[in-house]
Amino acid sequence: MRLSRFTLNGIKQELVCEGDRRLLDVIRGDFGLTGTKRGCDNEGYCGACAVIMDGKAVRSCVVAMDHVPEGAVIETVEGIGTIAHPHAVQKAFAYEGAIQCGYCTPGMVTTAKALLDRRPNPSEEEIRQAFRGNLCRCTGYSSIIRAVQTAGRLMSGEVSEDEIRVDTSDGTFGKRAPRPNSLSKATGALRYGDDVPMPQNTLHLKVVRSPHHHANIMSIDISEAEKMPGVIGVLTAKDIPGSNRLPYRPPGYSAKLVPTEPILCDTRVTHLGRPVAVVVAETVRHAEAAVGVVKVDYEVLPRHETPLQSLREGAAPILSEYDSNLMVTSHLRKGGDQAAAEQAIAESAAVVAGSFATPRIAHLTIEPDNAMAFVDEDGRITIMSKSVAVHLHRMQMCAALGVPPDKLRWIENPSGGSFDSKSVITCEGYVALAAMKFRRPCKIVYTMAETILVASKRARVWVNAKLGATSDGRLTALVYDFDLDAGGYEGVAELVMNRYHKCIGGAYTLPKAYGEGRMALTNSNPFSSVRGPGGVEMALVTEVLVDMMAERLGADPLEFRYQNAWKEGDRANWGATLDCYPYAGMLEKLRPLYLAATAKARHETTPARKRGVGIGGGIWGCEMDGGDRSTVWVELNPDDGVTVYATWADSGQGGDIGVVTIASKALGGLPPEKVRVVSRDSSLTPNSGPSVASRQTATTGNAICMACEALLNAMREHDCKTYADMVRKQRPLRYEGAYVWQSPAPIDKDGQGVPWRNLSYVLNMAEVEVEIATGKVNVLKMTSVVDAGVIHNPLAVEGQCEGGMNMGAGFALWEAFEPGQTDSLLAGGIPNFVNSPKTECHYTETFRVGGALGGVGLGETVMFGAPPAILNAIYDASGARMFDVPATPERVLAALARG
Ligand code: FES
Ligand code: FES
Repeated sequence: MRLSRFTLNGIKQELVCEGDRRLLDVIRGDFGLTGTKRGCDNEGYCGACAVIMDGKAVRSCVVAMDHVPEGAVIETVEGIGTIAHPHAVQKAFAYEGAIQCGYCTPGMVTTAKALLDRRPNPSEEEIRQAFRGNLCRCTGYSSIIRAVQTAGRLMSGEVSEDEIRVDTSDGTFGKRAPRPNSLSKATGALRYGDDVPMPQNTLHLKVVRSPHHHANIMSIDISEAEKMPGVIGVLTAKDIPGSNRLPYRPPGYSAKLVPTEPILCDTRVTHLGRPVAVVVAETVRHAEAAVGVVKVDYEVLPRHETPLQSLREGAAPILSEYDSNLMVTSHLRKGGDQAAAEQAIAESAAVVAGSFATPRIAHLTIEPDNAMAFVDEDGRITIMSKSVAVHLHRMQMCAALGVPPDKLRWIENPSGGSFDSKSVITCEGYVALAAMKFRRPCKIVYTMAETILVASKRARVWVNAKLGATSDGRLTALVYDFDLDAGGYEGVAELVMNRYHKCIGGAYTLPKAYGEGRMALTNSNPFSSVRGPGGVEMALVTEVLVDMMAERLGADPLEFRYQNAWKEGDRANWGATLDCYPYAGMLEKLRPLYLAATAKARHETTPARKRGVGIGGGIWGCEMDGGDRSTVWVELNPDDGVTVYATWADSGQGGDIGVVTIASKALGGLPPEKVRVVSRDSSLTPNSGPSVASRQTATTGNAICMACEALLNAMREHDCKTYADMVRKQRPLRYEGAYVWQSPAPIDKDGQGVPWRNLSYVLNMAEVEVEIATGKVNVLKMTSVVDAGVIHNPLAVEGQCEGGMNMGAGFALWEAFEPGQTDSLLAGGIPNFVNSPKTECHYTETFRVGGALGGVGLGETVMFGAPPAILNAIYDASGARMFDVPATPERVLAALARG
């Protein structure tokens, strides 16, 4: 025990604590300054906990109080500025769009201030080095670099705030308006799940997890654990009153699939880390101590690591609900059957082929997963978590726990990133069950290792594909097959699997196509969405083959793409024509940039460090497949502003600014401060659907427009100009917008029909350098050209493009998840300040008739072109043709050796 004396945010403090207590725990726990975040497991690599101590940025999670100098001066994000009086650094982060989910932001702000106090005008390279210990999953780092430089200019007086402030007095539409909550994130005021004050009597949970990939649960003995100090109880599947199965199957999908994923495993574990019991205790330490005392007797079963293994003759079904591990087989047949496509390939003047493999990928959000639950004064179980689908998850949880819908309320906490990780239920069932059972508030916070271990993953896929073309450069046919690793539960895999068939082929004219996809269970993490599932993988396959074909025919890669790009009247792989055809125009926009980049690469390449340029593109449907709906309410407020009620989750992608911008425009240019958003509570909002599939901009955006129109119509009809008029005339103040899109031709067994109303498009260019001796690839710059219709907020769109390209670089070069081995953000391969490329963003804005105010979503599309662009650039630089990702140095060296 020791007495520490220090100054914290300008106030002298004394504290008695253990010498090995971490400064982060003191700041958050003893002083309640929750602006300082925890990302990694006190391992000092993520920078979310950075504070300034005696003028230097330090990672407070690794600083023991023994090492805090007597009289140290410590500054946290709260001490730097407040929402009312933000510091220049905090303003710059908001204005430059350097804040998305905002979870990394306090650590970035403190690191920036420490740097700028020392070095007022740092270069980009100096910033990258100063921030090498800070991670961000959302932004791609470019906007943070700009923010630090802008902050420096603001601090020195080189620019004034008036010069960078955005005038939103007539609305925000089309302007680089910062997000509504960016200052609360920049000042540490916004409370994420682990920051929310909870009562003294809150119980803390830890999960007992399977150490096996595949095993039967023979018995669970909780008797010793229940006697451990501080333990209130240990819950197993027997304590669950409902079905204990989370239903994922959306309406219209295969009747074969039944709910199989339990909240707590009862008879079998299907992958490493599955939950078999939950310890509920007075403190986290008590719960942790008891976890190891729960005795579980397993009968270990053979692990099916790959679909090849789980589908071999005699392989036992992983799930007892099915008689086989083959979940779904699906097809694409365009322009005839398989024989017709094969014949077209055989008759083609040129044919190229490849076998591709892509890995499991973790979401790698900087905030660890967490949830709370309590029984409210009306007897409702209230869950608070990072869910991006509060109504859907409520329905699923009610079924699994056996709770009537009116007895469960779900609130979305501010979220430190999702990328679809919270499109599925994770830890919420444990806290809800414990709150039901013990009638006390309950809380669980995963470690980062646990978050990564147990979450669903981007699925592995193996693809064989061949592409044909005529001698004059017209594509003739595509034939492919793929095997998809669904992991231990079927989850949303069938729904997402359809996207693989739709995204292969990209925006290129293919008279004939045949494909077969198989989805199989294995003993690994279940398939889930991770930013554009299927879109990323199939763009990689398509664009590498297109590049190979261009070379085979002696054509320029860009001009070959231009020749084959969808033109007016062309039919997509699913057989339908489209409302617009922007891809050729995007290639035109890229052409001068590509020519300049290629010339630069040829000039700068050396035998030891070869430079090259590559292109990749992709498409994405911006609705739920086959039909979508969203309901929104808009209510007139006493100040003649409005409140918009919509479940457009904001996990960093910009849901809040999306609602504000669309409502602002639909109401004739209402300033943003007059548009309030209620979006995070199942009990206060109508169902606007989940924030997945980049669907919200078009679907909920249209619903917002409809609700605003209903309000304006009512005001016009009754000759009302203000709230006061409406009240005086006793008119309703709340209006509903219910947007429904139903496919005019649902997808058939051949994959033909109309899956979506809207598409968004991306085109990326990568400039890389390959170190020939080591195989290391440096991505020097990524450029994007995007078309998602009319841009509502250029700052938000730029942020998505930059972040998407960066995540694409991670997919291409560094990221992979292996159960039992990948236990940190670093091990998962998250891009960082040092290896992330410079970025440049361009747009074509083709009005979308089915979009909201002409625009559609692009949060996923923006990632698709980067991986193939990088692989094609590696080939352009070095001649190493890559088919597997990540393109590690070892794989690049092997490809170089193959020639
Ligand atoms: Fe401290 Fe990650 S570096 S929480
Ligand atoms: Fe940096 Fe989300 S904004 S992690």
